[in-house]
Amino acid sequence: MHFEETVMGFLLDHQERHHRTHHFLILMDALISAAKHIEHFYLTGALKGNTGLAGSVNVQGEDVFRMDQIAQEITIHHLRTSRRVIYAVSEESEEIVPINPDGRYFVYFDPLDGSSNVPHGLPVGFMFGVARKSLEGEEDNHLRAGKDYIAAGMFVIPTGTFTLALKDAGAWRFHLDETMEFVRPTRILLPENRKNWELSFNSANRHAYSKGVQNWITNNESKYAFRYIGALAADFHRTLSNGGMFMYPAIVNHPDPRKNRPEGKLRLMYEASVVAFICSEAGGAAIGETGNPILNVQPKGPHQRSALYVGSKPLVEDITQSLAIPNPPVQ
Ligand code: AHG
Ligand code: MN
Ligand code: MN
Repeated sequence: MHFEETVMGFLLDHQERHHRTHHFLILMDALISAAKHIEHFYLTGALKGNTGLAGSVNVQGEDVFRMDQIAQEITIHHLRTSRRVIYAVSEESEEIVPINPDGRYFVYFDPLDGSSNVPHGLPVGFMFGVARKSLEGEEDNHLRAGKDYIAAGMFVIPTGTFTLALKDAGAWRFHLDETMEFVRPTRILLPENRKNWELSFNSANRHAYSKGVQNWITNNESKYAFRYIGALAADFHRTLSNGGMFMYPAIVNHPDPRKNRPEGKLRLMYEASVVAFICSEAGGAAIGETGNPILNVQPKGPHQRSALYVGSKPLVEDITQSLAIPNPPVQ
């Protein structure tokens, strides 16, 4: 009989090869259990009336909980039972969630990424980054830059795919098998061949981007295919597999200036830094609106936003030139 390598077998091997403890395995088991639990709820959500908006009522007359809230509750439960987490930062909690003062890790997560896809049953994500407590000296703070993450990953739900990047050990993809195990680790490296490269951004916003970004799009878009699902985890999954670039630029030229978002839309700690970490392990790059590497951005708060350009290095390097030009005229 042939048995596929499981994610836990893969991680056990990784930890032992590097003479590391098993604490990380316990944490990963909790995150994987949470993802499977969320996937189960998502697949059966329509039956339970859980795909609507909070505040609405289902056919049985019960209050409907948003999938975001269900996913949050599930994840916090699994992180608590792991006993390995000190604090969690989640998109669904304004405050940082204290979990176990004797824990070892900080976890930053978006329990349900791409919520606008929920009513349609289309792909959503569960994204996370992990940092370790400082073992030497005093613990300074729990808000870490992406370069200090030890792992980051994303599940695309309900497609049964899991991409996990480990610090200096690559980005790997797993698939859910018929026994609900994530199996078959496959190394992910961004393809150098431009044949299948894709661009991904919300084109409705293009006239609100900086002039430099608008010019870059005009000069480059016809060279690549364009795809946009509206969930970072799912869109970036394609970028990783096919190459190209996902971007969510700053909104600086909106006709209604109140709708400008010069700081970007995506969240640094559990969206931008997660995909930047994975992309870096897959041989790519990620920058913010000033061309600064996302992985170097030290968060000042848990829900800080960031613009994001992430994907194949040649494209990220190329658009950096356009970001550097202060508002050149649109051609
Ligand atoms: P979330 O559902 O966790 O709030 O995240 C939504 C994010 C991200 O997943 C996606 O890439 C982006 O918002 C889509 O934004 P637009 O609808 O503005 O394109
Ligand atoms: Mn999100
Ligand atoms: Mn979310």
